[in-house]
Amino acid sequence: MSDDTPRSPDGQPLWYGRRRTHKLRPHRAKLIDTLLPALRLAARGQSTPVDLAEKFGRTAAEIHLEIGFGAGEHLSGVAAAAPDVDFIGCEPFINGVASLLADIERDGSTNIRLFDEDARQLLPRLPDAAISKIYLLFPDPWPKARHNRRRFVQQDALSELARIARDGATFIFASDHKDYVAWTLAEVQRHPDWVWTAERPDDWRLPPSGWVETRYEAKGRKKGDLPSYLVMRRVPRR
Ligand SMILES: C[S@@+](CC[C@H](N)C(=O)[O-])C[C@H]1O[C@@H](n2cnc3c(N)ncnc32)[C@H](O)[C@@H]1O
Repeated sequence: MSDDTPRSPDGQPLWYGRRRTHKLRPHRAKLIDTLLPALRLAARGQSTPVDLAEKFGRTAAEIHLEIGFGAGEHLSGVAAAAPDVDFIGCEPFINGVASLLADIERDGSTNIRLFDEDARQLLPRLPDAAISKIYLLFPDPWPKARHNRRRFVQQDALSELARIARDGATFIFASDHKDYVAWTLAEVQRHPDWVWTAERPDDWRLPPSGWVETRYEAKGRKKGDLPSYLVMRRVPRR
């Protein structure tokens, strides 16, 4: 299977996104110093496997993963609605991490752990068949053809997601960027471990039930952009 992901000489995927915009307000800066260390799932720059039961202090029936949670309104919303499920969120954008921490503090949620780095550095450290649901919502589209290789959805990323996914797990991809939607469908269709579940147009035109709108989704909706919601299922292992 091809690996088109651009990498640094030490083999880590290259990061092209932003890590910070405006200066954090004092309370949010304090949350980064105090709450984030307690909720951080794994330290950066290491390769040791992550012990999920130890990090969450329990073994929940399901663990869900959101990659690129932005300001975290989807992650905090689904976590508050499902206290029996544990959630992992990945996001290197520190203003977004601070925003999620403020939501966690407001909601008193205890079922979220964070990785404030590129998700591609965390995935190899997660155990096989540990995750029941994966969200990739309104990912950076990298629209120029010469930047398409920066897109998260690539064969190697789908393989890594398939490894950590339980049999029958769902992978939800949402985007209002038509070319990235078509790209994702093409990548999924040539990957042996994932199938697209849609049977009728409403299955991709409407969000799955219990949906919490994301910030980018709301912005796009105001401009009249139509999102697509692709729900993939992990093919059972033989
Ligand atoms: C366009 S924003 C969408 C944010 C949010 N999902 C939403 O819908 O509002 C994409 C986000 O994904 C994050 N991101 C991109 N690549 C990532 C990666 N490899 N690991 C973790 N986060 C990533 C970016 O930092 C950015 O915040």
